[in-house]
Amino acid sequence: MPHQAELDIDKIIDAQIFPTLILGQNDLVGYHNQPMIDLLNNFSSQNHASHIGADIWRLIHIPEIAEVFEQVKQSKQATQSKFEYFDNGVRHFRFSISPISVDDKSYNYWFSFRDLTQEIVLERMRADFIANASHELRTPLASIAGFIETLQGPAKDDIASHHKFLNIMQEQSGRMTRLIDDLLSLSKIELNQHMKPTDMVNLNDIIEHCFHTFEPLAKAQKVVLKLENKLEKAHIYGDRDQLIQLLTNLLNNALKYGMKNQAENEIILRLTENDAADKIILSIIDFGDGIEEEDLPRLTERFYRVKHSQKVRGTGLGLAIVKHIAQHHDAVLNFESQVNEGTQVFLTFDKI
Ligand SMILES: Nc1ncnc2c1ncn2[C@@H]1O[C@H](COP(=O)(O)OP(=O)(O)O)[C@@H](O)[C@H]1O
Ligand SMILES: [Mg+2]
Repeated sequence: MPHQAELDIDKIIDAQIFPTLILGQNDLVGYHNQPMIDLLNNFSSQNHASHIGADIWRLIHIPEIAEVFEQVKQSKQATQSKFEYFDNGVRHFRFSISPISVDDKSYNYWFSFRDLTQEIVLERMRADFIANASHELRTPLASIAGFIETLQGPAKDDIASHHKFLNIMQEQSGRMTRLIDDLLSLSKIELNQHMKPTDMVNLNDIIEHCFHTFEPLAKAQKVVLKLENKLEKAHIYGDRDQLIQLLTNLLNNALKYGMKNQAENEIILRLTENDAADKIILSIIDFGDGIEEEDLPRLTERFYRVKHSQKVRGTGLGLAIVKHIAQHHDAVLNFESQVNEGTQVFLTFDKI
């Protein structure tokens, strides 16, 4: 087989994407590719350009690998397994060891590793999300089911409590509707995440639209909604519906959490540009409750709500949606807040 005889094992190993090595006689490293050098440096807290000729068990102290290696030496069967490794948090690896016979008596061993940390973390987040979403939906559902039972049984003829129970049931079904709406918009945005918006939109129009939608709501709550816009042109590549939803969620928050029970309160909706005039900054500013510093990094997590705001209606999904829409637009999202002083949300977009 002349075309195979010319194959060079070192070149084959160099061509591997995953960390790969050949273990020669006496458990000494025969050859490895660059990803394996990096990984061995990491495992052994060293910084060497090569580990060729080194005893592998001086570099790797992972019992699962030693165990599988013993098994492979005896069975002469390729075997795979996995292990966890702590390095700034837990990392997950899968690895395989395959025997390659050199002559009748001796073998070399092919080691290959795959870092599965990212896949596993994403998978866990997805599983957590489904568990959280089911839990959030089950709570109002259980309450509705409970009241149906009461209305069918003990309170059957108690007309006075019918009204009260039906009101609670209506409130709970409203909560389920809001949750489902938010969950659906989140998954819709995620689905299109990789397709960047290509429509040219004018942020001036969008903030004016939202200003007019929210002004009566604000007035009803004795809040003055102010529009401050000094930009003549405010064009970006964007998805108009998503940007309206983003502003709606932020203005809803400013209205819900931006009250200090003062005679008069205000919310500012502002459009400015940076000094270089290549970015547009959209700010939503309230003078209300504010947010503790320790809560700031968690605000955009799905279902995260600050404890004291749990008396106010909400799903905890509003800012998760805002974050996804910002990411979809390559916009930078920042929060600044001071307890009892107020909150400022900034979104920085690339100008066309
Ligand atoms: N403008 C704001 N002022 C104070 N707290 C806020 C503000 N916006 C958001 N928060 C806090 O962040 C949490 C998450 O917001 P969000 O994701 O919109 O969920 P929700 O409004 O449904 O609770 C809220 O529960 C609230 O505690
Ligand atoms: Mg909200």
